[in-house]
Amino acid sequence: MVKLPKDLLGIRELTADQINYILDSAVVCKDIFNRDLKKVPTLRGKTVVTLFFEPSTRTRTSFEIAGKWMSADVVNLTVSSSSVAKGESFVDTAKTIEAMGVDLIIIRHSLAGTPKLLADSVKSHVINAGDGAHEHPTQALLDLFTIREHKGGFSGLKVVIVGDILHSRVAKSNIWGLTKLGARVSVVGPPTLIPSGIRDLGVTVETNLDQALADADVVNILRIQLERQNKGYFPTLREYSRLYGMDLSRLKKANSNLLVLHPGPANLGVEISEEVSTHCQSVITKQVTNGVAVRMALLYLLTGGGIQNEILH
Ligand code: CP
Repeated sequence: MVKLPKDLLGIRELTADQINYILDSAVVCKDIFNRDLKKVPTLRGKTVVTLFFEPSTRTRTSFEIAGKWMSADVVNLTVSSSSVAKGESFVDTAKTIEAMGVDLIIIRHSLAGTPKLLADSVKSHVINAGDGAHEHPTQALLDLFTIREHKGGFSGLKVVIVGDILHSRVAKSNIWGLTKLGARVSVVGPPTLIPSGIRDLGVTVETNLDQALADADVVNILRIQLERQNKGYFPTLREYSRLYGMDLSRLKKANSNLLVLHPGPANLGVEISEEVSTHCQSVITKQVTNGVAVRMALLYLLTGGGIQNEILH
């Protein structure tokens, strides 16, 4: 049994053994999709609160489904109708939630470091569901799970991450995880959206996407954050799409075994075409399914579970 930290704040803090342990546990959890009755008593008596200060479809819903399938009580706290809207401090809100006997809080916030502040303030376990441009560890874990499921492992694998690396928490968490597990990581994107110190994380910076994809095993396509488009990081969306967008003609030129990932939500026709998003080499829908299994595993492991064979009993 591998011990995990009290909280999941980032992939940076995890060892390769801990990451593999979470992925192995998620394999066990995924079996629930083969069952007619998707309900096990594993987390009966545990209470989970989701606290999202930013929009989410996949992350919040999959945590809710994961918790409910494992019989936890899951409460979604709507920030706009909570006392945060009346001026209550973030830490006071967190302590109020904790005082109700909550075992685990899942938080998304636009400010990097907010999950750490929360984890330092409460005894409940905390999971970072995305904080600013810092980390999105559960997205990276489901991406790793999906890659391992299709490629068998990471050793020697070349993974290209394309897009807005500068603002992407998905990219940062993927880089930490992939490099710890032995994959080679290249990043490609407009020079204005590649952080200057990114090579220090052990990745290669490539400038030509077609060349980068010629010998790549996996491409992870990041969402262009349209809300930043007016900041002048690149001339036009059309230009971005031409240089860094994934369409059928680019997919045909790439390694024929290339696996296509996108964390969602996608801007179809900008960073990925509809044809590629639904292509047989795309595993975008599988990523969403795997997100439930990975999050079930995390809820179980962080709240004290450790025996993988008992997760679905
Ligand atoms: N990938 C991801 O975090 O999606 P949501 O914003 O829908 O949760």
